[in-house]
Amino acid sequence: MRLISILLAATALASCSAAENVAENVTADPSTVANVLTTPDARDVHSYAIPAEARVTHVALDLTADFTRKVMRGTATLDVQAAAGAKKIVLDTRDLKIAGITDQDGKALPFQVGKSDPVHGAPLTVQLNGARKLRITYESAPGAAALQWLEPSQTAGKKQPYLFSQGQAILNRSWIPTQDSPGIRQTWAARITVPEGLTAVMSGEAQTVLGEAADGGGRTFTYEMNQPVAPYLIALAVGDLRFQALGPRTGIWSEPSRLEASAKEFGELEKFVEAAEALYGPYRWGRYDVLVLPPSFPFGGMENPRLTFATPTVVAGDRSLVSLIAHELAHSWSGNLVTNATWNDFWLNEGFTSYFENRIMESMYGKRRAAMEADLAWTTMEDAVKEVGGPASPDTQLHLNLAFDRDPDAGMTQIAYDKGATFLRTIEQAVGRDRFDEYLRGYFDRHAFQPQTSAGFLRDIREHLIKGDTALEQRLQLDRWVYQPGIPENAVHVRSDAFPAMDKAAKEFAETGNITAVPTERVTQETVRFLNQLPRGLSAERLTALDEAFRFNTSGNSEVRFAWLMLATSSRYPPALESADAFLNSMGRRKFVAPLFTALMAQGAWGQTAARRIYARARPGYHSVTTGTVDGIVGWKG
Ligand code: BES
Ligand code: ZN
Repeated sequence: MRLISILLAATALASCSAAENVAENVTADPSTVANVLTTPDARDVHSYAIPAEARVTHVALDLTADFTRKVMRGTATLDVQAAAGAKKIVLDTRDLKIAGITDQDGKALPFQVGKSDPVHGAPLTVQLNGARKLRITYESAPGAAALQWLEPSQTAGKKQPYLFSQGQAILNRSWIPTQDSPGIRQTWAARITVPEGLTAVMSGEAQTVLGEAADGGGRTFTYEMNQPVAPYLIALAVGDLRFQALGPRTGIWSEPSRLEASAKEFGELEKFVEAAEALYGPYRWGRYDVLVLPPSFPFGGMENPRLTFATPTVVAGDRSLVSLIAHELAHSWSGNLVTNATWNDFWLNEGFTSYFENRIMESMYGKRRAAMEADLAWTTMEDAVKEVGGPASPDTQLHLNLAFDRDPDAGMTQIAYDKGATFLRTIEQAVGRDRFDEYLRGYFDRHAFQPQTSAGFLRDIREHLIKGDTALEQRLQLDRWVYQPGIPENAVHVRSDAFPAMDKAAKEFAETGNITAVPTERVTQETVRFLNQLPRGLSAERLTALDEAFRFNTSGNSEVRFAWLMLATSSRYPPALESADAFLNSMGRRKFVAPLFTALMAQGAWGQTAARRIYARARPGYHSVTTGTVDGIVGWKG
């Protein structure tokens, strides 16, 4: 059924003659084509593709991971759906070396690589000459933005090298020549050849678990994704990897030495999937596994279909940071099933997911834990508003208008997550949870495997939830939430009843230095709240008392360590520098790394000298996503 609707949509597309760059072009219901195809908000300025003219429907990769030269090389064979009379197709590339392109019969096709832009890369225009398939022979650049090639020393095992990819937002074009727009869904298949002893895992279904012996040595692993996905969701990791099953459809991949701790931390994975399904309907992707990466992974997690990529910094030993897994799992509905059509509507991915994440946490661990996390997110939202320039800043809108010359990465702030989640919570409270849950289940069904825009969401909620109730419409202020800056007054703030005690302790301790004012029985979220409430510029005496009582400088809980180091560096506390140095050299998660360097740089010569020294040593271990942000913060000159 699904396949048929996609074919129908493709036919509808082929009859569309306007050669306009429109991202929303795969839609399961042909009757909605007219609605979404023409909306200007579905135009993706971050892709060179002109999908209404010709679009990629399937990507077949046959690549070798060359660890010596740090390149992926081989072929990408693309299935093309072209409009009647279309003469060319435009693909996205970034720093790719293209050796040649042929059609399905091996006949060479003329092509041209356009001018390269540092953020978007270069358009690759291929003359179709009637071709339905393109076979592109190419290799990636050694510094490909999506890829990080790790030396054995940067892994847990220290013996084998490692490679992983990070596609979101527009990085996959640095290793896959395709139309890299979230509105252009593609099925894919891959044969990945790796050196003997290494295992390749991908965000698709494994066809051979152990790989086959490859002709020129090494092993070939084969993966398939038969459900159309946005191309940023094609992901690969290669290393000394082992698997441990956790449940019938869940398990953990990691380096051997991390497997036990990771499997313990995420031991409830199967229950997470069940909790998510109970909320918003069947999990549609078959397996749900988690790959725990080496510490340089630049994000907390990445929702690669069937295989979430996760930072090892959430393996805290006490399951205190597992909301990250709830988050990435939730993306299996919001993001992977219903996908932002362009990065302007990133909030449709992250806001929905953050709301959903908190609902999973509530089902798994109860209201108390969920409320603490929601209340921390409220503060994060307030801080984010300040960070992007205050409540009048257009960057506080949910729907963004990212200009071509702006890296989408820069517009993707915490606003999308926390204002987005607050918006949905506000609707939930206005209409009641049961009604809202039913609406969301319907929403995911109606738009499954389709791109979505803010306008499309508003249309859908008006049709299926508001249904002309003008009082409700008035109360919700939907357009205000989506298209206006700031946080509307009707925003629902979930307050944790555990936090007033932390706020009081912080105030009292800051004033008196009395360590007994600080409760010793605290969960991670309470500790984070306590640390965040302490005034910046706290005296060395107070900080020493805290560190002596609670050993924050050596905390193995990454969120606690981070909150502490933000406080201590912003208070110019010298004994924190060694801890900051060790922490920043132990992982490359941008959410921790960027704010810490920013805090250090704000402390005059004291912090700046330290920041430059620490960065010089840590930088070679970071992924391009992290250096791309931090180079600017510390004024790195190469
Ligand atoms: N999809 C994001 C990661 C991402 C965002 C990659 C933007 C590239 C561009 C992922 O789901 C995410 O939000 N990760 C968060 C953790 C989450 C618990 C809020 C992170 O990495 O910190
Ligand atoms: Zn997310």
